[in-house]
Amino acid sequence: KKVVYAPEIDSTNNEAKRNAENGAKDGTLYITESQTGGRGRRGRQWVSPSGSGIWMTLLLRPQINPANASMLTIVAAMAVTMAIRRAVAETGVDVECHIKWPNDVVINKKKVCGILTEMSAELDCIHYVVIGIGINVNTTEFADEIKETASSLFVETGKNIKRSRIVALFAEEFTKYYQKFLNTGDLSGLVQDYNELLINAGRQVRICDAKEEFTGVAAGIDSHGELLVTKEDGTQAVISAGEVSVR
Ligand code: BTN
Repeated sequence: KKVVYAPEIDSTNNEAKRNAENGAKDGTLYITESQTGGRGRRGRQWVSPSGSGIWMTLLLRPQINPANASMLTIVAAMAVTMAIRRAVAETGVDVECHIKWPNDVVINKKKVCGILTEMSAELDCIHYVVIGIGINVNTTEFADEIKETASSLFVETGKNIKRSRIVALFAEEFTKYYQKFLNTGDLSGLVQDYNELLINAGRQVRICDAKEEFTGVAAGIDSHGELLVTKEDGTQAVISAGEVSVR
């Protein structure tokens, strides 16, 4: 599989989409040193300065139901979490890394990685999916709006971790999980591994969406990636990612 590097780009997601439109192959990884127009979820900006992180996008052309494409974000979150765990362990530091449902990667409750998945599809056929991954590796300064909630591997571990090592570990872990995903086209083969990486499992969560707000205890995800929450009255709620916020 090919890795395409550029010293600077607007956004690796944009680059991957442009190349996908021109026939770029499944499995190509776009990676850059700095992004001038890094994008986050909900139209937010993703600050991506030179030297401070890993800004990369994986192009895939999976033959799956477009309705299940968002599950790939979960597969990627698992791979990033395992890659960070292994890279951190190699430095000899004991710091825990988890997934915050559905796909943020956190250390000490602070977000160190975000994932933005975009796709082009018809009713029943995916043209391509791009999975954009931003990992704060060496970042030491954060904008005021995210100061309380964001961090980096350096800040949380005190170690300089080679970015190339994390990328290599990510590729290895993603290949493993992606195979499992493709076997069924859903998360049924990954639910158990995912729930073991989940910070929310067995813990109290507060669910807030447009309609309601309630607390409960999160059990873990089901094979669709929805979060199963036992409410205080004992009934179970099935939460889909999207406009929900989990605290
Ligand atoms: C989020 O809001 O949590 C998602 C952030 C995704 C950032 C990555 S960095 C590489 C890729 N290119 C982008 O423009 N965004 C993603």
